[in-house]
Amino acid sequence: MITESSSRDGLQSLGAWVPTAAKSALIDSLAGTGLRTFDAVSFVSPKAVPQMADGAEVIAGVEKRDDVVLFGLVPNMQGLEAAIAAGVDGIGVLTAASDTFNESNINATVDESMHRIRRILLETPEDLEVRGYVSTATHCPFEGEQDPDWVAHLAETLMEWGVRSVFLGETIGRATPAHIERLLGEVLDRVPVEKVGIHLHDTYGQAIANTLVALNHGVASMDSSAGGLGGCPYAPGASGNVATEDLVYLLDGLGIDHGVDLMGVAGVAHRFCADHNLRYNSDAGRALLAAAEGE
Ligand code: HMG
Ligand code: MG
Repeated sequence: MITESSSRDGLQSLGAWVPTAAKSALIDSLAGTGLRTFDAVSFVSPKAVPQMADGAEVIAGVEKRDDVVLFGLVPNMQGLEAAIAAGVDGIGVLTAASDTFNESNINATVDESMHRIRRILLETPEDLEVRGYVSTATHCPFEGEQDPDWVAHLAETLMEWGVRSVFLGETIGRATPAHIERLLGEVLDRVPVEKVGIHLHDTYGQAIANTLVALNHGVASMDSSAGGLGGCPYAPGASGNVATEDLVYLLDGLGIDHGVDLMGVAGVAHRFCADHNLRYNSDAGRALLAAAEGE
């Protein structure tokens, strides 16, 4: 199952304001290509991440469809209240393996953020699906390589506390397949594979190779971002998530069903990048669009 992250992770680091209607329209257009689950917005401090200040309005502007699921990222109780008021279908709660990253990202140590998550989980209405993100799951921008055993412990604890699934965030895109092997080797010992998702950034061009490792381990849930948009304002130098187009091209080649119109995603993302002066960053999308133009 693909979760489309372009309207959240894809846009959160941008300085130039993307109008609210354009964010909602991006989700609508991508839903039109068959994508069904969206890491749509975040409910965070507008001082910390100004681009995400309009999360509620973005959700309000999305065409209501029974087959589309919208998630909002929630760092604290204030975020939970905003997410409930906005009417999202699910929330993402977040911690990280590394204290330094977590403090810079959400002003909390890992321990403090786990306590926040516990409180959020106790207050979350039952009809809201909750996923837990563990960022810097292999590498921290400040502390370097992380201990897979520690990440597995955090993932297992989140599951025990009631999240529906755990997403391993490779926040800075530095991991190679060997790192993902080691990480999944530990995590899958403690969390059932169908409850594990991955969220890979592609800074070092390893995200597709890393995706293949995850698929080979039976991990079937992955975040991706149309046009390869994205980054984290608190992870210096990190580029976008694995491009949805590159992921879908890989799944096609492996004969794995996904229900997504690859050319449709490429067209939507390429247009969005052109409209907002952003670099279009999918290799598969670029190749397919060039081939289509040459026909
Ligand atoms: P803080 O300063 O400790 O919070 O920030 P606070 O409780 O002391 O409040 C300070 C101010 O923020 C107050 O406003 C609050 O009202 C406001 P003021 O009185 O100064 O006007 N505030 C909020 N406003 C709106 N929504 C809220 C909220 N909470 C407080 N939920 C906080 C702590 C977590 C809020 C802050 O550090 C923050 O917003 N951080 C967000 C960082 C972020 O969004 N990072 C990117 C997303 S994570 C990511 O990208 C990784 C991921 O993709 C996976 C991966 O790649 O690994 C998911
Ligand atoms: Mg991310």
